[in-house]
This record gives sequence, C-alpha cells and structure tokens, in this order.
Amino acid sequence: MANLLVLGTQWGDEGKGKIVDLLTPAFDVVARYQGGHNAGHTVYVAGRKIVLHLIPSGILRPATFCVIGNGVVIAPSAFFQEIGDLEARDIRVDPTRLAVSRGAHLIMPWHPLVERISEERRGEKRIGTTCRGIGPAYEDKAARLGVRAGDLADLRVLREKIVETVAAKGSVLGAAGLAALDAEAIYREYAGWAERLGPYLRDVSDLLHERMKAGQNVLFEGAQGALLDLDHGTYPFVTSSSSTAGGAATGLGVGPRTIHGVLGITKAYTTRVGSGPFPTELFDDTGKAIASRGDEFGASTGRPRRCGWFDAVAVRYACRVNGIDRIALTKPDVLAGLGGISVCTGYRHKGELLKTFPPEAWMLEGVIPEFRTLPGWPEFARGAAGLEDLPPAFVDYVRVLEDLIETRVAIVSTGVAREQTLFVESEIRDFVDLGRVRAGGAV
Ligand code: IMP
Repeated sequence: MANLLVLGTQWGDEGKGKIVDLLTPAFDVVARYQGGHNAGHTVYVAGRKIVLHLIPSGILRPATFCVIGNGVVIAPSAFFQEIGDLEARDIRVDPTRLAVSRGAHLIMPWHPLVERISEERRGEKRIGTTCRGIGPAYEDKAARLGVRAGDLADLRVLREKIVETVAAKGSVLGAAGLAALDAEAIYREYAGWAERLGPYLRDVSDLLHERMKAGQNVLFEGAQGALLDLDHGTYPFVTSSSSTAGGAATGLGVGPRTIHGVLGITKAYTTRVGSGPFPTELFDDTGKAIASRGDEFGASTGRPRRCGWFDAVAVRYACRVNGIDRIALTKPDVLAGLGGISVCTGYRHKGELLKTFPPEAWMLEGVIPEFRTLPGWPEFARGAAGLEDLPPAFVDYVRVLEDLIETRVAIVSTGVAREQTLFVESEIRDFVDLGRVRAGGAV
C-alpha cells in the first residue's frame, strides 16, 4: 500500500485536476479533504472539457472510489448539479462510487448572503472571494453554529439547528437591509436534500481505515493551493480551509503517517484570482500573452486570473510547509515562444534580502522581487516521451527551478490532454508506486 497526497503549491489553478486524473489508475480511492465548490478542477478526456468543483477528479475513472471528507463544505444544490452534469456525460455517480463524510458542514442559504455583506463592507480591501458561501460556512463551523451533513439523518435536529441559526443571523442580515430568512422554508428545502444526500453519508475515517487495512491505495486530493491556506497562506487574502498537507489528516480523519508521499503541482509561471499580494505579477503585454495562451480564466467563476513570472521564493516555502517530495510542473508550453523567461529568485524588504517567504500580506506587499532571466524556448514537440525530447533551454529552466525550490521535478505536463505528460523515470520509479503510472502504461 502506498498513499499519495497531491496539492497545489501556488495560489490554486496549478492544473491539479489533470494530474490527479492521470495518477488515479494507480490508486483505489481518491479523497478530497477541504474546500467546497469554490474549486474548479479541469480535466480533458477524449477532447471533452470536464470541470469538477466538489466531486474528486477520480470520479472520471470507473474503477475508482471517491470520498469527500469532513474538512469539505457542501452546498447540496451544487453537489447534485455536478452529479447531474456528470451523468449527462455518461459518468455514473452513486453511493457505490462516492461517499460523503457525515462530519462535512453544509453551506446554508444565509452563507452567500453573509459573504456578500462582508465583502461589501471591506470595500477596497475585499478578498475577492468566489461568493459561494465557503468562508461563512467555515466561520459557523468554528463558531459551533454549523449544520453538518450528518444532521440530515435526524429531521428534528435539523429543524432545531436551522431555527436557532436563522435567529442568530437575523441581526446581521437586518443591519444590511435584507429581509428576514424563512426558517421553515429552509428546513423544507434541506429536509428534501436529506433524502437525496442520505445514501452517500458515511463515517469516512472508518471507511478509509478499512480500505487501507485491506491494502488499498489512497490518493489525497487538495483543492485551491498552499498559498491560499488559512494558516500558511497570504493571510487575510486566503480561503477559509487548510489546503496544505496537514489538512488531509484533519479533513479526513486519518493519521499523518498514512500519507507516504507528497506531490506538489506547480505551474511554470504564477497566477492568482481575486485580491492579495502577488510580487511577480506582470502588468504588460507579456502578462496578457500568458493569460490568453494559458486560458487563464477561473474554472469556477470565469474571472480573469492575474499572471506573473515563476516565484521560486513562494514555491520553496510551499515545498517546506507541505513536505513536498516531488513536483509535477504544468503548462510550460504556455511560455514557449517568449523571448526571455524570468524567475524570481529572492525578495528584498527595506533593502534587506529575506531568507524566507513572508506570508503576511502587509509584508509581502512591500517586497521587491529579484529576477534571473533565462533564454526562452520554442514550441514543444507533441508527444515528447522524456525530458531529452524537449528544448534544451526548457530543460535548463527545469534544472534552475529545481535548484531554487530545492525539490526535484518528476512529471512535466506539456498540454491539456492525458497523453501530453512526461514522467521523469528516475524520479518516479520508486516514488509512492508512481512507477506503475507512466505514459503508455496505466495511463
Ligand atoms: P473563497 O475560497 O471563495 O473564500 O475565496 C478566497 C480566495 O481564494 C479568493 O481570492 C479566491 O479567488 C481564491 N480561491 C478560492 N478557490 C480557488 C480556486 O479553486 N482556485 C484559485 N483561487 C481560489
């Protein structure tokens, strides 16, 4: 048995969906541990674009069992909408293939309303959230006011919780000039979801424990990215969950030693959606060219993503905070044809060269990035099998990144399709069974 954790090392949108989908054949279970339908994981299968938000990307492989952990927040309407969209594409989703933790918190109708009020109140300092109610759902969880998926099993408990929370939210909504919520109508809606969601609800910690005991392999799937983590990200411009590696243990109820390896997904440049510091951001035509060639629009909200050069200070930090063993480098093909490619090698703050990444937003806003510019490379050959088939200038770029982030690259994604992926044999051979997954093999 070998379990692998896969997560993003930047501000999300690193291309996790494709890599998780690609690695899934080597695993029996794919388990998502945090976030909600703020995420957007894009996968291209046989030329078809599929975007997943809440359901693990493993669902696209018929033999894979998928799990949504207690660390995830669930909007039942989004959950069933996604199941409907998948079924419309002939992808079967039912409780024999998907389990949801009874401990997962539900996104309730007041959460998006409270979020809009909070973002408006912040004005210029708004976080630029996805407005899906994610943050307020986690706030209620910490305030011990949340409604958990498991509460749907007892309608008396469900009604009581809804009535209590609607009363508690009244003053916030009233102060913003919004009408009072109708607790009874909300109860009826969620009692309806109870019937549909009920068959999916499980003790996920126990389920994973049993499967691991039986020798099954688990892939833990992170959403968003390390720099959006509530504790380790660029606070307060972060999401409200633990997207770093530690979140997998708490978000699924598994021990840390069940995670045998950590694969970081890293884009060959940097993007960010929403507000917050971004030291290597490009405001010129190069930034626009990267955005357009990389199709850098939010998979969930359609918002344009801000683009910039690769930030080795930030990714080295992410490698440390998550204990990343190897990197999957994505979208280098987007940079092909640019004259010179820059990499941020360090930050100066008030003239001093910083030793480490400062995650505090106010400090990060004041840093001056230092860059090293490397020669660009021409278009990639389609279907390259090894690094030696790629332009030498690109291979040099990979080596420079590896040195700066102090972590080796094991996978290079050279296009959106499953086949456009290159495995660095020497790096994956002994790494968490990934030797079993390679182009032309299990993929
Ligand atoms: P929230 O997760 O909706 O609360 O948004 C908080 C911050 O995280 C905002 O800057 C969002 O744009 C960002 N964010 C949330 N989910 C994703 C994602 O899946 N990809 C990239 N950014 C995200």
